[in-house]
Amino acid sequence: MPRQKTEYICASCGAVFSKWHGRCPECSQWNTVELHAPDAEKDKKSAGSMISLADVSPEGAERLMTGMSEFNIVCGGGIVPGSVILIGGEPGIGKSTLALQISEYFDAVYVSGEESPFQIKQRAERIGIKTGGIRIFTGTDVEDVISIIDRDRPRLIVIDSIQTISSKEISAPPGSVTQIRESAHRISVSAKKSGVPVMLIGHITKDGTIAGPKLLEHIVDTVLYFEGNFSKEYRILRAFKNRYGSVNEIGLFAMTEKGLAEVKDKNRIFLNPFVSSSPGNAISSAVEGTRTILFEVQSLVSYTSFPNPRRMADGFDLNRLILIAAVLEKHAALKLNTFDVFINVSGGFQINETSADLAVAMSIFSSLKNVPVPDGLGLLGEISLSGEIRPVSMCGRRVKEFIHSGFGKIIIPSGDVDEAAAAGFGGEIIGVKNINEAINKLV
Ligand code: TYD
Ligand code: MG
Repeated sequence: MPRQKTEYICASCGAVFSKWHGRCPECSQWNTVELHAPDAEKDKKSAGSMISLADVSPEGAERLMTGMSEFNIVCGGGIVPGSVILIGGEPGIGKSTLALQISEYFDAVYVSGEESPFQIKQRAERIGIKTGGIRIFTGTDVEDVISIIDRDRPRLIVIDSIQTISSKEISAPPGSVTQIRESAHRISVSAKKSGVPVMLIGHITKDGTIAGPKLLEHIVDTVLYFEGNFSKEYRILRAFKNRYGSVNEIGLFAMTEKGLAEVKDKNRIFLNPFVSSSPGNAISSAVEGTRTILFEVQSLVSYTSFPNPRRMADGFDLNRLILIAAVLEKHAALKLNTFDVFINVSGGFQINETSADLAVAMSIFSSLKNVPVPDGLGLLGEISLSGEIRPVSMCGRRVKEFIHSGFGKIIIPSGDVDEAAAAGFGGEIIGVKNINEAINKLV
């Protein structure tokens, strides 16, 4: 008999070790490494089966549509039967609300280990959904969940949350790494066998200390994370992993009095309609999956009273900001070393693309010199260490968004001018080669 191997798993980052650590060597969290009982997973090895590739039915041909097109988009065009979708996010962001709204379309079974049927009913009434077909199950045993899937074959089963589900057959305490992984694994096997799609809800905190979604990413088919700034109404549902669609796809929602609503004017929600022409604001265009979104970078450049001027960024990479500030100083002779630079991306939007560099640089210049960036001007371009403006990916798509929103002028990398013209931009296209040229064209 093979010797059983003992594993230790970090509840925060999911790293696996052969011995226990007080502090996880991977993510540096304290007291997150737990013993993972290997005998609990012995039934994982099932006999495989062979099938001719020609006989494989096209997956995704049959997709279950929810009435929320934003949700369908993030899933890659609807829910695939038998798939397991994990929805992660901080407590209070709107996971249960979304799950309940989707349950309405499928007359789903809603397994709730967190809220009573009465609380769920109250929420359902508040957001005005038809409760007739939805069934609530308040148990927390994975065995019960599996028998519901196998026996009742609901059109969708929601599990809110996976952290509350455990198996009586495993000695580890509920909520532990072993219980969560094992429960998710068994549910996933049964979903695959029966074709019943499963929506798992998992909590995650900002610092990632709570066991959950990170541990499950490889067990489930699709991982969607809810992002958003709690002080703002907008919520972004982002696909991080999707066996049945592309990642980086996003769905845009607003949390309203009546639950989550799909955002209508999607491409402009991150623009601030009131302050566009005040100094320090500049607009650029981001590509998120199949979608293009306009956003505004806001800068505040103020005289510093510190020996080391401060650089702070919200919604943008801080290291990239430091680099852009250094380039402006070196190649555009802006005396930023005596100024603090704060930048913010409006609406809680997060930028992960270098195509926003030029907008960041121009907003800093605009705040420093106290001259507004003209209304209706769009900016695109990556900035190199030598101050050159480099072409951006998918320039045509970004430019189309400027066209769509009625922009009259764009400053873009000279290498992208042809693509912008081909995209049909009818206004003034200004191609620039370096940061100095861009500044000269701005004023
Ligand atoms: P919830 O779905 O319970 O979050 P999660 O399951 O991710 O913890 O949503 C919680 C927040 O949403 C709560 O603070 C109240 C707010 N909310 C609304 O603003 N409108 C609504 O119609 C509902 C149902 C909730
Ligand atoms: Mg909840």
